[in-house]
Amino acid sequence: MILIVGGAGYIGSHVNKALNEEGYETVILDNLSYGHEESIKWGTFCNCDLNNIDDVDEVFNKYDITAVMHFSSFIDVGESVRNPEKYYHNNVLNTMNLIHVMLKHDVKKFIFSSTCATYGVPQKIPLVEDHPQNPINPYGWTKLMVERILKDYDKAYGLKSVILRYFNASGADKSGEIGEWHNPETHLIPLILDAAMGKREDIKIFGTDYDTPDGTCIRDYIHVTDLADAHILSLKYLEQNNKSNQFNLGNGQGFSVREVIESVKRVTGKDFKVTASERREGDPAILIGSSKKAKEVLGWNPQYTDIDQIVETAWNWHQKLNKE
Ligand SMILES: NC(=O)c1ccc[n+]([C@@H]2O[C@H](COP(=O)([O-])OP(=O)(O)OC[C@H]3O[C@@H](n4cnc5c(N)ncnc54)[C@H](O)[C@@H]3O)[C@@H](O)[C@H]2O)c1
Repeated sequence: MILIVGGAGYIGSHVNKALNEEGYETVILDNLSYGHEESIKWGTFCNCDLNNIDDVDEVFNKYDITAVMHFSSFIDVGESVRNPEKYYHNNVLNTMNLIHVMLKHDVKKFIFSSTCATYGVPQKIPLVEDHPQNPINPYGWTKLMVERILKDYDKAYGLKSVILRYFNASGADKSGEIGEWHNPETHLIPLILDAAMGKREDIKIFGTDYDTPDGTCIRDYIHVTDLADAHILSLKYLEQNNKSNQFNLGNGQGFSVREVIESVKRVTGKDFKVTASERREGDPAILIGSSKKAKEVLGWNPQYTDIDQIVETAWNWHQKLNKE
């Protein structure tokens, strides 16, 4: 059985669906601090907090876990600056709890949700996996610390891991049964969709004087279903090669904030107010990842390359969510 830690969250719930479709049995461990029980539509749910090592141990006693996918962490970059203790505790210490229990039960396959935030300010675009890692906020540091721990634990204890550095996860499962459901929401596409629905007065663009073609920041949006596929391939990679590795998961092309706003206007057919605002500290002008390695080594073949396709799936889900 595959243990999905944080499987009630946005990305974990999509991976849960993909694993079940692929014939894997899943156990979902989540404390529902930010996740939603309604998003657990497959597998067996254990309401459990990683902070409680005895409860985690119980889950491993009860189920025949062969590999772990670890999505549970706090994810708000701004909050990590204001309250780093919350982030180091949950993202690093609690991950160590999880791995401690895994090793106790001789489970040595681990897939870890890392982030492009571990690279910090890019020296060269597109970002490749061996670009220097120098995070500029505590959130990024928590992820890099776990990456470091995984390297050392591989050498010392034979824990094999695939580290996946996501760029901006976006979109929703095309069935519309699960999707992005963060509370509070900090991600661009759902925020623009809220503006399109009239739930927000306007959408603010933080910085319109960047050195980019339209002056707004460019980011790499990768569809959550494509991310889910990469997790299945990573699991197979570990099963077949029993070797640790790291991969970027991005779309390979960037879209500016204005381009995403225009896409939302096209897809929803709605107009809304857009307000130019000051730059935010620590926002690089361009973040685009190269996923060449994941394509070559894992055979990953992302399907959602067009921003309108991504926004369409997000809009489909967003309308359902806001009806409930
Ligand atoms: N969303 C993105 O664009 C993005 C980008 C890069 C990396 N990531 C990483 O991907 C992972 C998943 O992100 P997401 O957007 O699905 O987040 P999410 O908040 O939707 O999911 C995280 C889940 O972990 C659970 N959780 C948190 N702390 C826990 C604990 N102590 N015990 C048990 N459960 C706990 C939450 O309840 C939630 O269901 C995170 O590790 C995040 O850092 C996300």
